[in-house]
Amino acid sequence: MPVITNIEDLKRIYKRRAPRMFYDYAESGSWTEQTFRENCSDFDQLYLRQRVAVDMSGRSTATQMIGQDVSMPVALAPVGLTGMQHADGEIKAARAAEKFGVPFTLSTMSINSIEDVAEATTKPFWFQLYTMKDQDFVSRLIQRAKAANCSALVITLDLQILGQRHKDLKNGLSAPPKLTPSTIANLMTKWTWGLQMLGAKRRNFGNIVGHVEGVSDAANLGAWTAEQFDPTLDWGKIAKIKEEWGGPVILKGILDAEDAKMAMSVGADAIVVSNHGGRQLDGAMSSIKALPSILDAVGDQVEVHLDSGIRSGQDVLKALAMGAKGTYIGRAFVYGLGAMGEAGVTKALEVIHKELDTSMALCGRRRVDELDRDILLIPEDFEGRWQ
Ligand SMILES: Cc1cc2nc3c(=O)[nH]c(=O)nc-3n(C[C@H](O)[C@H](O)[C@H](O)COP(=O)(O)O)c2cc1C
Repeated sequence: MPVITNIEDLKRIYKRRAPRMFYDYAESGSWTEQTFRENCSDFDQLYLRQRVAVDMSGRSTATQMIGQDVSMPVALAPVGLTGMQHADGEIKAARAAEKFGVPFTLSTMSINSIEDVAEATTKPFWFQLYTMKDQDFVSRLIQRAKAANCSALVITLDLQILGQRHKDLKNGLSAPPKLTPSTIANLMTKWTWGLQMLGAKRRNFGNIVGHVEGVSDAANLGAWTAEQFDPTLDWGKIAKIKEEWGGPVILKGILDAEDAKMAMSVGADAIVVSNHGGRQLDGAMSSIKALPSILDAVGDQVEVHLDSGIRSGQDVLKALAMGAKGTYIGRAFVYGLGAMGEAGVTKALEVIHKELDTSMALCGRRRVDELDRDILLIPEDFEGRWQ
């Protein structure tokens, strides 16, 4: 058993174990991948301020996200096809999150269904909604999430159309994988994955197949998804969905101060500053760089969360010190899941927790609610000056 000390270690094992098409699916950004790269590299422009001789006993990373207790403010982001990275991936990730005391967000495009995850867990999880043209289907999804006792609806706003990831097209990404000579050659080297997948509860989109007329297999589904995402989504529709849901709503995919104000005006309980992990608008600003102007625009009027580019507890610390009240990890937990299933997700959370806790202490702070920009050295031109 290798000694795992950081997220990169998990990624290396994941790369060996998962079929190439699913590794590439996770480990890509859209087009030139500028935004995907800068999501991570922009964290490196920020420096933490080391403080000494401060009593660091009695530390805690516990806090709240949208009023719910969390052991650290790091939720698992919604990630489509998680159940292809590892058999029953959503169930395993949700269980790891529950045991760790952080929120798990189930994607609309998951393999395990809302009901599968509800059955396998004991605490409420969050459900992420993609809005579709088929309004009845969207309403049924909302009702199913309510019936499963989900405690927040995360509405993703930055994927009405799909940003292009070259490798997905070249690999012929599908769930389950289509058996072409090159996928067969690759799958022959992934025995453990294949054997575990044979015993999986599901191998296609559990929230969709069997819940939409005419969609019974993956081939139909590809066409259905491409046709079904709703290009007409606007703030009016978001307000209606919020009303239909009736519970806490998190609006995900905000990268601009004007949109943050609009999100506030429709009554969002929280917003997620996100560029979808660099998978949608290539050339958009990194989330951490976009965060200060959004915080300036909304102040304390809405809870501001951040994702995209977090690979360590130090990244989490920088986002919190900048002013975010919560963060999400996407790829960082997928690496763990693909490497070692539930134990790998737990490992990813443990790594990040330890990094956050230790680094917080070395900055002279004992609790996350004591974090502020005082522990951060931000370059004067970090946000840039734009015409
Ligand atoms: C493989 C993959 C699939 C994703 N699928 C979804 C999805 O179904 N719904 C969604 O709202 N976001 C999705 N995202 C975006 C994540 O929720 C999150 O915004 C992103 O992963 C954060 O960046 P990070 O991976 O650098 O942490 C996906 C991200 C990845 C990497």
